[in-house]
Amino acid sequence: MGERVGTSFSDVHAPGRTWAEVDIGAVRHNVRALRRRARGASLMAVVKADAYGHGALPVARAALEAGADWLAVVTAEEGTELRGGGIGAPILVFTDLLPDKLDIAEEYGLTVTAHSVESAERIARRSLRAHLKVNTGMNRWGVEPGEVSEARKILGEQLAGVYTHFASADVDPEATRQQIQRFEKVLAAHPFGGVMVHAANSAATLWYPRAHYDCVRPGVALYGLHPAGDSGDPGDEGLRPVMTLKSYVASVRRLEPGDGVSYGLTFRAREPMFTATVPVGYAEGYRRALSGRAQALIRGRRRPLLGRVTMDACVFGVDGEVEVGDEVVLLGEQGKEKIRAEDLGKWAGTINYEITTGINPRRVERSYTGV
Ligand SMILES: Cc1ncc(COP(=O)(O)O)c(C=O)c1O
Repeated sequence: MGERVGTSFSDVHAPGRTWAEVDIGAVRHNVRALRRRARGASLMAVVKADAYGHGALPVARAALEAGADWLAVVTAEEGTELRGGGIGAPILVFTDLLPDKLDIAEEYGLTVTAHSVESAERIARRSLRAHLKVNTGMNRWGVEPGEVSEARKILGEQLAGVYTHFASADVDPEATRQQIQRFEKVLAAHPFGGVMVHAANSAATLWYPRAHYDCVRPGVALYGLHPAGDSGDPGDEGLRPVMTLKSYVASVRRLEPGDGVSYGLTFRAREPMFTATVPVGYAEGYRRALSGRAQALIRGRRRPLLGRVTMDACVFGVDGEVEVGDEVVLLGEQGKEKIRAEDLGKWAGTINYEITTGINPRRVERSYTGV
């Protein structure tokens, strides 16, 4: 059976079990880099879902400081949180809101989205400004091109913008070209006058200048993440990752051949070896699907995750040099090595978006640098 070695747990001085360092300077850098890619267009910083797990208020403030003109959220509450933090910039709510939530939007001066003729009617009963979303192929939200005329008429003077959303600008140029064509057909067929026209998510901001129109709407790229999700290097696009996720070695153990690790004993030592127990688990948002696949950085080297991620801890294979209290980088850089959110996405069978958005702020304290 394995045996615990090294110094005691009480000697450790770490800021928490697992913590996130959010580089606000990198947010500002990414906003400026994206603005340079879309010169002439304004920029709507997408800070929904607590800024993809980075913290909505500090990210929104940094984005505005760096030149963002608009913010975008998904729920009325995400908008009121920004207003409560003193943010007066225009805020667009992307999804359809039920009547109670439309009242909140009205009270807090949020711009809402009309997704259907019925939602345009609900909006028209209130003193709200609205953007009309048009379905050009994503088939999730938005009025059909044939309904644009009616929705436009209902909204009248309340209409302040018209937009669409791309389904696969990260991977499928042909589908994106078709969506652009359908959108431009709608724009040509309807006299929208001076309303704001927008379409580009991060991928289209980076790779489809034709789709920049009046305003671009990047989300994931603001956080220095690659729009492809589980591949690609954000550095190649001039983006700087914003989040680093760290923990520490809470215990070191020596295993003998045949000793197993974690629930189900899915990993077994083939030879004598050392392991490090790290207090991060799926309750922190370090996904169980990473089991047996991920790596972390300890003392500047990549260390394999052994066996299953549990709710509160997991175990990495190390060498005899690693000690209790050593810093563990789960996401980010240490020495010359780097673990990207794209790597974690690939190992977990998901995308970088879900990795950062899934970090649980009730377990993982955030600290902000470069504020
Ligand atoms: C309508 C809309 N615009 C823009 C974005 C930002 O997308 P991304 O994070 O890929 O840049 C999203 C995110 O899903 C969205 O729903």
